[in-house]
Amino acid sequence: MHTPETPSPEHSGKPGTAVDHTVPSVARIYDYAIGGKDNFKVDRDVAHALVAEVPEALLFARENRSFLRRAVRFLASECGVRQFVDNGSGLPTADNVHQIAQRCEPGARVVYIDNDPVVLAYGRALLADDGNTAVLQADMTSPGKIIADARTRQLIDFTEQTAVLYVSVLHCVPDEAAPRDVVARMLDAVPSGSYLVLSHIVSDDREAAQRFTEFMTSSTDWGRVRSPQEVAEIFDGLELLEPGLVDVVDWRPESSEPVWSVTGSPFGEFPADPEGPKKLWELGGIARKP
Ligand SMILES: C[S@@+](CC[C@H](N)C(=O)[O-])C[C@H]1O[C@@H](n2cnc3c(N)ncnc32)[C@H](O)[C@@H]1O
Repeated sequence: MHTPETPSPEHSGKPGTAVDHTVPSVARIYDYAIGGKDNFKVDRDVAHALVAEVPEALLFARENRSFLRRAVRFLASECGVRQFVDNGSGLPTADNVHQIAQRCEPGARVVYIDNDPVVLAYGRALLADDGNTAVLQADMTSPGKIIADARTRQLIDFTEQTAVLYVSVLHCVPDEAAPRDVVARMLDAVPSGSYLVLSHIVSDDREAAQRFTEFMTSSTDWGRVRSPQEVAEIFDGLELLEPGLVDVVDWRPESSEPVWSVTGSPFGEFPADPEGPKKLWELGGIARKP
């Protein structure tokens, strides 16, 4: 794993405290895309415009959430992981990391991190009665602050194996904030035998990548679509688990898993399987720190 000594500059998207109903947020657009209700008109408008521009965007948001569920279940049930740091956790939804993990490992502890104030408000309400979880409104591009935070220290024992999650979040981070270094610094804090779970929107089609990036950066604080190779480099020095770094739909698919229903979607009819090769997809995988 690439581990620079010098900290990367902080991403400008610093956590704010006020909820602005007039500015779209990635957390709420994503919430809408995966069927949630915690979003405003401004977010729904952007989601509809995005789907008009890139029809598969809705599909890969949902496929990504399924990947997150399978990944956490796998780590808790098959690898015995009991602590999770979920960077860019998003709004609470039907099945959150602590709920998935605690079904397999009842004492599993989770620190949720997001810079969106709505996530903090809803997260605290959801987790108020769970002593094994905390929600931090923080910028994930400052891992040092997250690691040093007293609430993190209370839940995460940094001498014990830990799963560090960056699920569908690093494309929100621009190059200036050095996403690869951010992950490396977080992984430096956890012991050997810990895991990285990561998914990222990728494309090998320059035009498709640019179109999606331009759309997102014109509406929100965002980074960019990266190439599969750039994402693979984040895993350098780690041991990728089977099946490797793949389209998230191909990561240990489970036949018992409900297929996302497109009927009744706010977007109307949506092709479950767009024709032709995908131009954009969520690339994801799990790796073990040696
Ligand atoms: C696409 S959602 C992914 C949510 C969840 N990880 C999942 O896969 O279902 C991206 C989340 O990252 C959060 N985010 C973006 N940039 C961030 C940053 N610099 N620090 C913390 N959270 C950030 C957004 O607010 C949003 O909730």
